[in-house]
Amino acid sequence: MADFVRAADISELVDPGKMLVDVDGEMVALFLVDGTFYAIDDVCTHDGGPLVEGELNGYKIACPRHGARFDIRTGAALTMPAVRGTRAHDVKVENGGVWVRLGSLGATDGPMSHATSAANGFEATGRPLPAAVLATTAAQQTALTAQETVAPSTTVASRTTAEIEVGSVSTAVLCEDSVRELLKKVIDPELFVNIVDLGLIYGVTLSPAVDLPGKQHVAIDMTMTSPACPAGPQLIADTRRSVGAHEDVSAVEVRIVMDPPWTPDRMTDAARDSLGIF
Ligand code: FES
Repeated sequence: MADFVRAADISELVDPGKMLVDVDGEMVALFLVDGTFYAIDDVCTHDGGPLVEGELNGYKIACPRHGARFDIRTGAALTMPAVRGTRAHDVKVENGGVWVRLGSLGATDGPMSHATSAANGFEATGRPLPAAVLATTAAQQTALTAQETVAPSTTVASRTTAEIEVGSVSTAVLCEDSVRELLKKVIDPELFVNIVDLGLIYGVTLSPAVDLPGKQHVAIDMTMTSPACPAGPQLIADTRRSVGAHEDVSAVEVRIVMDPPWTPDRMTDAARDSLGIF
Protein backbone atom coordinates (compact mmCIF):
# COMPACT_ATOMS: atom_id res chain seq x y z
CA MET A 1 0.00 0.00 0.00
CA ALA A 2 1.25 3.48 -0.89
CA ASP A 3 2.32 5.91 1.81
CA PHE A 4 0.53 9.12 2.65
CA VAL A 5 2.02 12.09 0.83
CA ARG A 6 1.68 15.68 1.97
CA ALA A 7 -0.33 17.23 -0.86
CA ALA A 8 -1.22 20.71 0.45
CA ASP A 9 -1.33 22.94 3.48
CA ILE A 10 -4.68 23.12 5.24
CA SER A 11 -4.69 26.87 4.73
CA GLU A 12 -4.58 26.52 0.95
CA LEU A 13 -8.27 25.65 0.69
CA VAL A 14 -11.33 27.55 1.83
CA ASP A 15 -14.51 25.65 2.64
CA PRO A 16 -16.08 24.72 0.25
CA GLY A 17 -13.18 24.58 -2.16
CA LYS A 18 -11.14 22.52 -4.58
CA MET A 19 -7.63 22.46 -5.94
CA LEU A 20 -5.38 20.33 -8.09
CA VAL A 21 -2.49 18.59 -6.33
CA ASP A 22 0.33 16.34 -7.42
CA VAL A 23 0.57 13.09 -5.48
CA ASP A 24 3.44 10.86 -6.49
CA GLY A 25 3.22 12.24 -10.03
CA GLU A 26 -0.52 11.75 -10.34
CA MET A 27 -2.99 14.61 -10.71
CA VAL A 28 -5.51 14.51 -7.88
CA ALA A 29 -8.53 16.74 -7.27
CA LEU A 30 -8.58 17.76 -3.61
CA PHE A 31 -11.79 19.08 -2.04
CA LEU A 32 -12.78 20.65 1.26
CA VAL A 33 -16.50 20.45 2.06
CA ASP A 34 -18.09 20.94 5.48
CA GLY A 35 -14.74 20.72 7.21
CA THR A 36 -13.64 17.45 5.62
CA PHE A 37 -11.08 16.91 2.87
CA TYR A 38 -11.66 14.47 0.00
CA ALA A 39 -9.47 13.37 -2.92
CA ILE A 40 -10.31 11.74 -6.22
CA ASP A 41 -8.47 11.33 -9.52
CA ASP A 42 -8.66 14.47 -11.62
CA VAL A 43 -9.88 12.40 -14.54
CA CYS A 44 -13.43 12.04 -15.79
CA THR A 45 -13.98 8.44 -16.81
CA HIS A 46 -16.10 9.46 -19.79
CA ASP A 47 -13.41 11.14 -21.86
CA GLY A 48 -10.68 12.40 -19.57
CA GLY A 49 -12.16 15.76 -18.56
CA PRO A 50 -10.37 17.65 -15.74
CA LEU A 51 -12.80 17.28 -12.83
CA VAL A 52 -11.21 19.90 -10.62
CA GLU A 53 -12.17 22.54 -13.19
CA GLY A 54 -15.85 21.61 -12.90
CA GLU A 55 -18.58 23.07 -10.73
CA LEU A 56 -18.64 21.85 -7.13
CA ASN A 57 -22.13 21.53 -5.66
CA GLY A 58 -22.21 19.96 -2.21
CA TYR A 59 -20.47 16.64 -2.53
CA LYS A 60 -20.88 16.54 -6.32
CA ILE A 61 -18.38 17.70 -8.91
CA ALA A 62 -19.56 18.17 -12.51
CA CYS A 63 -17.17 17.44 -15.34
CA PRO A 64 -16.65 20.69 -17.28
CA ARG A 65 -16.69 18.89 -20.61
CA HIS A 66 -20.00 17.02 -20.88
CA GLY A 67 -21.55 17.41 -17.45
CA ALA A 68 -21.10 13.98 -15.83
CA ARG A 69 -21.26 14.23 -12.04
CA PHE A 70 -19.13 12.38 -9.53
CA ASP A 71 -19.37 11.99 -5.75
CA ILE A 72 -16.21 13.53 -4.30
CA ARG A 73 -16.47 11.27 -1.23
CA THR A 74 -16.36 7.99 -3.12
CA GLY A 75 -15.50 8.77 -6.74
CA ALA A 76 -18.76 7.15 -7.85
CA ALA A 77 -20.22 8.23 -11.17
CA LEU A 78 -23.65 9.73 -10.51
CA THR A 79 -24.86 10.77 -13.96
CA MET A 80 -24.25 10.09 -17.61
CA PRO A 81 -22.27 10.22 -19.74
CA ALA A 82 -19.84 8.71 -17.21
CA VAL A 83 -20.70 5.09 -16.45
CA ARG A 84 -17.92 4.17 -14.04
CA GLY A 85 -16.37 5.85 -11.07
CA THR A 86 -13.03 7.55 -10.79
CA ARG A 87 -10.55 6.55 -8.07
CA ALA A 88 -11.01 7.97 -4.60
CA HIS A 89 -8.10 8.24 -2.18
CA ASP A 90 -7.52 8.21 1.57
CA VAL A 91 -7.02 11.63 3.09
CA LYS A 92 -5.79 12.65 6.53
CA VAL A 93 -4.97 15.97 8.18
CA GLU A 94 -1.75 16.14 10.17
CA ASN A 95 0.78 18.80 11.19
CA GLY A 96 -1.05 21.54 9.33
CA GLY A 97 -1.05 19.57 6.08
CA VAL A 98 -3.45 17.52 3.97
CA TRP A 99 -2.03 14.07 3.27
CA VAL A 100 -3.22 11.81 0.47
CA ARG A 101 -2.62 8.10 -0.04
CA LEU A 102 -3.22 6.98 -3.61
CA GLY A 103 -5.58 4.30 -4.69
CA SER A 104 -6.31 2.64 -1.37
CA LEU A 105 -10.06 3.09 -1.74
CA GLY A 106 -10.38 2.47 -5.46
CA ALA A 107 -13.37 3.40 -7.57
CA THR A 108 -16.42 2.45 -5.57
CA ASP A 109 -18.51 1.35 -8.49
CA GLY A 110 -15.58 -0.32 -10.21
CA PRO A 111 -14.86 -0.46 -13.91
CA MET A 112 -18.52 -0.84 -14.84
CA SER A 113 -18.42 -0.97 -18.58
CA HIS A 114 -21.37 0.11 -20.67
CA ALA A 115 -22.04 -3.45 -21.64
CA THR A 116 -21.93 -4.59 -18.04
CA SER A 117 -24.23 -1.90 -16.75
CA ALA A 118 -26.68 -2.50 -19.57
CA ALA A 119 -26.54 -6.23 -19.04
CA ASN A 120 -27.49 -5.64 -15.43
CA GLY A 121 -30.35 -3.46 -16.56
CA PHE A 122 -29.16 -0.33 -14.80
CA GLU A 123 -27.46 2.87 -15.83
CA ALA A 124 -25.01 4.88 -13.74
CA THR A 125 -27.77 6.65 -11.85
CA GLY A 126 -29.19 3.34 -10.71
CA ARG A 127 -32.35 3.74 -12.77
CA PRO A 128 -33.50 0.73 -14.81
CA LEU A 129 -32.75 0.99 -18.50
CA PRO A 130 -35.68 0.90 -20.92
CA ALA A 131 -36.07 -2.26 -22.96
CA ALA A 132 -35.25 -0.46 -26.22
CA VAL A 133 -31.97 0.68 -24.73
CA LEU A 134 -31.03 -2.82 -23.71
CA ALA A 135 -31.68 -3.95 -27.26
CA THR A 136 -29.53 -1.26 -28.83
CA THR A 137 -26.54 -1.91 -26.60
CA ALA A 138 -26.21 -5.29 -28.26
CA ALA A 139 -26.08 -3.72 -31.71
CA GLN A 140 -22.96 -4.31 -33.73
CA GLN A 141 -20.86 -1.33 -34.61
CA THR A 142 -20.04 -0.76 -38.26
CA ALA A 143 -16.84 1.09 -39.12
CA LEU A 144 -17.68 3.84 -41.57
CA THR A 145 -15.92 7.00 -42.56
CA ALA A 146 -17.50 10.43 -42.32
CA GLN A 147 -18.69 12.13 -45.51
CA GLU A 148 -19.21 8.83 -47.26
CA THR A 149 -22.30 8.92 -49.45
CA VAL A 150 -24.35 5.83 -50.18
CA ALA A 151 -27.63 5.01 -51.82
CA PRO A 152 -30.43 4.35 -49.32
CA SER A 153 -31.28 0.82 -48.44
CA THR A 154 -33.73 -0.84 -46.08
CA THR A 155 -31.69 -4.03 -46.03
CA VAL A 156 -28.97 -4.17 -43.40
CA ALA A 157 -26.75 -7.06 -42.48
CA SER A 158 -26.32 -6.20 -38.83
CA ARG A 159 -28.89 -5.36 -36.19
CA THR A 160 -28.54 -1.64 -35.60
CA THR A 161 -30.36 1.09 -33.75
CA ALA A 162 -31.82 2.41 -37.00
CA GLU A 163 -33.09 -1.00 -37.99
CA ILE A 164 -34.76 -1.53 -34.63
CA GLU A 165 -36.36 1.91 -34.53
CA VAL A 166 -37.13 2.64 -38.19
CA GLY A 167 -38.43 -0.71 -39.28
CA SER A 168 -39.81 0.30 -42.69
CA VAL A 169 -39.58 2.88 -45.43
CA SER A 170 -41.00 6.28 -44.46
CA THR A 171 -43.57 7.90 -46.74
CA ALA A 172 -43.92 11.26 -44.94
CA VAL A 173 -43.36 14.31 -47.15
CA LEU A 174 -39.63 14.82 -47.38
CA CYS A 175 -38.58 18.12 -45.82
CA GLU A 176 -36.17 19.28 -43.13
CA ASP A 177 -38.71 18.57 -40.39
CA SER A 178 -39.39 15.02 -41.55
CA VAL A 179 -35.64 14.38 -41.80
CA ARG A 180 -35.23 15.55 -38.20
CA GLU A 181 -38.02 13.19 -37.16
CA LEU A 182 -36.14 10.32 -38.80
CA LEU A 183 -32.96 11.45 -37.04
CA LYS A 184 -34.75 11.19 -33.69
CA LYS A 185 -34.79 7.44 -34.24
CA VAL A 186 -31.00 7.38 -34.05
CA ILE A 187 -30.02 6.75 -30.44
CA ASP A 188 -26.57 7.47 -29.01
CA PRO A 189 -25.46 4.05 -27.69
CA GLU A 190 -23.58 5.65 -24.79
CA LEU A 191 -26.12 8.21 -23.65
CA PHE A 192 -29.36 6.49 -24.74
CA VAL A 193 -30.76 9.76 -26.07
CA ASN A 194 -31.58 10.53 -29.70
CA ILE A 195 -29.08 12.64 -31.61
CA VAL A 196 -31.52 15.50 -32.26
CA ASP A 197 -32.32 16.01 -28.57
CA LEU A 198 -28.61 15.70 -27.80
CA GLY A 199 -28.02 18.70 -30.07
CA LEU A 200 -25.69 16.83 -32.40
CA ILE A 201 -27.44 17.97 -35.60
CA TYR A 202 -26.12 21.30 -36.82
CA GLY A 203 -27.89 21.40 -40.17
CA VAL A 204 -30.03 19.54 -42.72
CA THR A 205 -29.87 20.47 -46.41
CA LEU A 206 -32.04 18.98 -49.15
CA SER A 207 -31.27 19.35 -52.85
CA PRO A 208 -32.74 17.70 -55.97
CA ALA A 209 -30.94 14.56 -57.05
CA VAL A 210 -29.21 15.10 -60.37
CA ASP A 211 -29.89 11.70 -61.92
CA LEU A 212 -33.09 10.73 -60.12
CA PRO A 213 -36.05 13.02 -60.82
CA GLY A 214 -38.34 13.41 -57.80
CA LYS A 215 -35.64 12.28 -55.37
CA GLN A 216 -33.56 14.40 -53.05
CA HIS A 217 -29.99 14.37 -51.82
CA VAL A 218 -29.84 14.93 -48.07
CA ALA A 219 -26.75 16.44 -46.45
CA ILE A 220 -26.54 16.38 -42.66
CA ASP A 221 -24.06 18.44 -40.66
CA MET A 222 -23.50 16.54 -37.45
CA THR A 223 -21.14 16.82 -34.52
CA MET A 224 -20.01 14.45 -31.76
CA THR A 225 -19.92 14.94 -28.00
CA SER A 226 -16.13 14.62 -28.18
CA PRO A 227 -13.58 14.36 -31.02
CA ALA A 228 -12.77 10.76 -30.09
CA CYS A 229 -16.36 9.69 -29.48
CA PRO A 230 -16.28 5.87 -29.70
CA ALA A 231 -19.89 5.80 -30.85
CA GLY A 232 -19.12 7.96 -33.89
CA PRO A 233 -19.05 5.24 -36.58
CA GLN A 234 -22.30 3.73 -35.33
CA LEU A 235 -24.05 7.10 -35.20
CA ILE A 236 -22.99 7.90 -38.75
CA ALA A 237 -24.14 4.52 -40.01
CA ASP A 238 -27.48 4.72 -38.20
CA THR A 239 -28.04 8.27 -39.44
CA ARG A 240 -27.53 7.21 -43.03
CA ARG A 241 -29.81 4.22 -42.63
CA SER A 242 -32.57 6.08 -40.85
CA VAL A 243 -32.78 8.97 -43.33
CA GLY A 244 -32.00 6.73 -46.30
CA ALA A 245 -35.11 4.69 -45.47
CA HIS A 246 -37.29 7.51 -46.82
CA GLU A 247 -38.58 6.62 -50.29
CA ASP A 248 -37.77 10.07 -51.71
CA VAL A 249 -34.12 10.11 -50.62
CA SER A 250 -31.54 9.42 -53.31
CA ALA A 251 -28.47 9.58 -51.05
CA VAL A 252 -27.46 10.63 -47.55
CA GLU A 253 -24.29 12.58 -46.88
CA VAL A 254 -23.10 12.89 -43.27
CA ARG A 255 -20.61 15.69 -42.69
CA ILE A 256 -18.88 15.70 -39.31
CA VAL A 257 -18.47 19.21 -37.93
CA MET A 258 -16.44 19.87 -34.78
CA ASP A 259 -16.72 23.67 -34.84
CA PRO A 260 -18.44 24.97 -32.84
CA PRO A 261 -17.73 22.17 -30.38
CA TRP A 262 -20.65 20.41 -28.74
CA THR A 263 -21.52 21.44 -25.19
CA PRO A 264 -24.26 20.17 -22.83
CA ASP A 265 -26.30 23.34 -23.28
CA ARG A 266 -27.12 22.20 -26.82
CA MET A 267 -29.31 19.45 -25.37
CA THR A 268 -33.06 19.79 -25.10
CA ASP A 269 -34.71 19.78 -21.68
CA ALA A 270 -35.95 16.25 -22.38
CA ALA A 271 -32.39 15.06 -23.00
CA ARG A 272 -31.09 16.81 -19.89
CA ASP A 273 -33.86 15.23 -17.83
CA SER A 274 -33.11 11.74 -19.06
CA LEU A 275 -29.40 12.22 -18.32
CA GLY A 276 -30.07 13.59 -14.87
CA ILE A 277 -28.53 16.98 -15.69
CA PHE A 278 -30.34 19.85 -14.02
S1 FES B 1 -15.21 14.06 -20.37
FE1 FES B 1 -16.36 14.25 -18.56
S2 FES B 1 -18.41 14.06 -19.14
FE2 FES B 1 -17.28 13.80 -20.97
